Formats: sequence, structure tokens, C-alpha cells
Amino acid sequence: MSGLSQPPPNPLRDPQDRRLPRIPEPCALVIFGVTGDLAHRKLIPAVYDLANRGLLPPGFVVLGFARRDWADGDFESLACESAKTYARTQWQEDVWARLAGNMKFVGGAFEDDEAFDTLARTLDDLRTSHGIPGNAAFYFSIPPVAFPVVLKQLQRTGMADNAKAGGWRRVVVEKPFGEDLASAKALNGLVDDVFTPPDVFRIDHYLGKENVQNILALRFANALFEPVWNAKYVDSVQITMAEDGGIGSRAGFYDKAGAARDVLQNHLLQLLTLIAMEEPTSFGAEQIRTEKLKVLRAIALPEDISTGTVRGQYQMGWVGGERVPGYLEEPNVPPDSTTETYVAVRLGVQNRRWAGVPFYIRAGKRLPRRVTELAVMFHKAPHLPFNPSDVELLSNNQLVVRVQPDEGVTVKFGSKVPGTTMEVRDIAMDFQYGEAFTESSPEAYERLVLDVLIGDSTLFPHADEVEQSWQVIDPLEAAWAGTKPALYRAGEWGPHRAGEMLAREGRSWRRP
Ligand code: BG6
Repeated sequence: MSGLSQPPPNPLRDPQDRRLPRIPEPCALVIFGVTGDLAHRKLIPAVYDLANRGLLPPGFVVLGFARRDWADGDFESLACESAKTYARTQWQEDVWARLAGNMKFVGGAFEDDEAFDTLARTLDDLRTSHGIPGNAAFYFSIPPVAFPVVLKQLQRTGMADNAKAGGWRRVVVEKPFGEDLASAKALNGLVDDVFTPPDVFRIDHYLGKENVQNILALRFANALFEPVWNAKYVDSVQITMAEDGGIGSRAGFYDKAGAARDVLQNHLLQLLTLIAMEEPTSFGAEQIRTEKLKVLRAIALPEDISTGTVRGQYQMGWVGGERVPGYLEEPNVPPDSTTETYVAVRLGVQNRRWAGVPFYIRAGKRLPRRVTELAVMFHKAPHLPFNPSDVELLSNNQLVVRVQPDEGVTVKFGSKVPGTTMEVRDIAMDFQYGEAFTESSPEAYERLVLDVLIGDSTLFPHADEVEQSWQVIDPLEAAWAGTKPALYRAGEWGPHRAGEMLAREGRSWRRP
């Protein structure tokens, strides 16, 4: 038989084979705050995309709850507009018609007992009308101040009780998950009082992005990268989350939060954990969480926060050929606000693998373009047996994971320039999802909503991770209190100080 390759295993014979489509049990998705932006742009379109891919169970029900005097049909036409505008997959009238036939709406305020009693009854009725045996996920697409009252209502009506429902009841909580360690702990306590911890799903939508999940595949499915994935070979790591957009109409939230609470505490620290963690014993939620937590616990803040971090705020400038206002001119931003719209920080990870390797992380609004990437910058070769002039255009080898846009991976290394000399220059070897695979990547919310309905919490940060992340942010916020952010013009790559922070250590930011 030598020389003949084995046929691939038949996925239909192996119950562990995760390539089989995963379809949830019959269930309902209850969306609180269904008239909000998140439901409109992300949740409803994600539900449509899942339906279009045949990944929802028969009779799947979407139940909207909001303070509106609506009939089911009003909700359905709003949802239709959301799905038509923002869905990723092709529009199919018959798919929508099936989904729309199972959309329900309950109107009322969060304090309104009667409305929640109606909601409970509506869920109960689904048992006979739709064959849904009590399974429901409650999606909190609402401001955090409303969490306690909605949780209380779910508890009062018994809707959060698995045993009483005769099926599973889960809750999905959107960020921000607290504004510091104390409030996050209080919130975790509240949620855990009402739902059992495995039924709580905290959303960090970055974990649902395809190429973020790919970090673990890249590291642990290959032999190539892991041997050099440590301080001996890695000089530094850079994580960049740049947005060309401003704060839009979110001043109310953003001005209180700032860039560090908005994205560093969650998205960016999560990316850091995936780059830095040890190999999990398996790809189970608990095993991965264990390794991520170890990284979060090993994070070291800069010795001097005033020089090891930079806060910035955008001023009027030009982005993509358009003149845009400064942060202080945005609607509803106080004219003397010192909130940061840009943050850069130098962190360490104190363990044997990463000792001495700086992790430079930056995030900002109104930067020249929207790009999120992680770059592992390797040391230069210990010895270069070339004429110095032949390697003038050779820099550090780099491995860059592009999260968005153009998701893919680039490896940058030196190669001989064609010709009669031994000149060596940087070149890039590029993998692009769009070219390598025929199937396009699901939207983050598509993946995450499906995982909630299936009950797979692998891509959701655990309460311990959230709390540990606040332990990184709180001392930074305390040190920044009362300080003013450095200014940068919209359309620039952040304040000059951010460049100086790296220059002091003989490095510079990658130009993504
Ligand atoms: C959100 C932040 O979590 O992520 C926003 O609150 C930010 O401020 C957004 O704009 C970015 O998400 P994405 O998926 O567009 O990179």
C-alpha cells in the first residue's frame, strides 16, 4: 500500500468531526433593544445569514422587545430592511419569508411587569405553536444601566430558570462589561445570580473574526512558527487597531469610556492573549480560557506609565480626502473633554517565553485608514556575512496577521535581488483568505450568535478574563486621571509621542 494515500475520514461516521454543520436545537432568540444600532446592523443581518446558510433549526423564532407600540408586522418590516441592507449573503425572498413568519414582537419598558409577563407567556406558547421545548437565548443589546432591571424581570418571571423552562436559557451580554474592576465584578455577580455561569455569554466580537480564530490555527497546527515564537527569536510584538471613523453619535458612551476602556480592555488584550498563550491541552472552552488567563495574569505594565503609554485626542483634519471635525467639535462632546481617542501602551508578559519582549499596542479613531493587524517582529539575524551596503534594505523578519480588511497573513523576509550582486532586500509572502478559499468568511456576529444557540462558549471571554483585563486597565486609568491627552490631527497615525515611545527603545511602528 505504500505510496497510496489514505482516503480522508468520512465525517458522517465520526461524531467528533466538527466539519459537519452545527445546527442548534429548536429555540428562540430574544433581543432586548431590538430597535438599536447593533440589532439593526449586526444581529438581524447575522440571523438572516445563518438562515440563508441553513444553520438555524426549523421553527426558529426571533422575538424583539423594545419600548414601541408595534405589531409583529412592524418589527418584521424593520428587520427586513436591516437584513436587506447589511446581510453578507445573497438576498433570497423565500429564506426571508420563512424567517419573517417566525418573528414576534413584545412592546414595553424594562420596568413594565406586564410586558415581561407577556414575554414569558409568548415564550411558553412557542412550545405548542413552534415545537420549541423551552430553549431561549436573551440578547442584551441595551445600555449597561438597564442590565439590572432586565435581569430582575427575567428572574421574577422565571424566564431565566432552565428547570422551569424545561430547556436551556442563556444570556448574551454585550460590552462594555463594566467600567472598572469593581463594576465588572458587581455586574458578574448580578448576572450570575440570575443565570448559571455556563449560560452566560459575554460578547467580544473580535473573537468571532475569522483571522483572529486563525491565530491559534497558525500557531498550533503548524510546525513552522512555534519554535521561533519566543523571546529568543521575537524582538517585539505590535498590535494595531486603527479606525478612520470618528465616534459618530456615540459621545454619550465614548466620552465616559475613552479608547482604553472601549477597545484595549477587551479586543486588544484578547488579541494579545492569543498571540502569547501556551498551547491548550485541547480546543475546549475551558482549556483555552485557562491559557488565556495565565497570560492576562502575567501582563506587566510599564514601569513608568507616563512614558510607557500615550493618550491622544484627534483634532480637525482630513481623512480619505474629507475634512472631519475634531473630537471636541463632535456632537455632545463637552468642549473641555480630556477623553482619549487614541491609546498606545507598552506591555510585557512576564513568563519564560516572553521575558523582555515588549508588546506595543495602539488603537485610535480618525487614523488614516481602518486596519487591524498583529505583527510579530523577529530579531535580526545574529550575524550577516554580507557587505553592509548589500543588506541596507533588509529589516527585521515579520509575521503579520491581518485581521481586517484583506484578512490574511504576510511573512516578510529578505531575498536576493536579481542580478550579479548579493544584494538582499525585504520581500513579502502573502496569504489572503479571499484568494485561498472559495467560501467567504462569516461575519463575527454570525459565528457568535450561532455559538450561543449551540451553547459553545469557546469564543466568549469568561468572567475571570474580563476581571483580569480590568486589573490591567485600572492602574492605567488611575495614572492618567487629571492628565491631558496629546493632540493629533485627524488623518495622522496618532500623536508624535507614540512614535517617540518606540524610538526611545530603538524601534518604530510598522506602517500597516
Ligand atoms: C467596538 C467599539 O467594540 O468595536 C467601537 O466600541 C469600534 O468603538 C468597534 O468602532 C470596531 O469594530 P470593528 O469590527 O469595526 O473593528
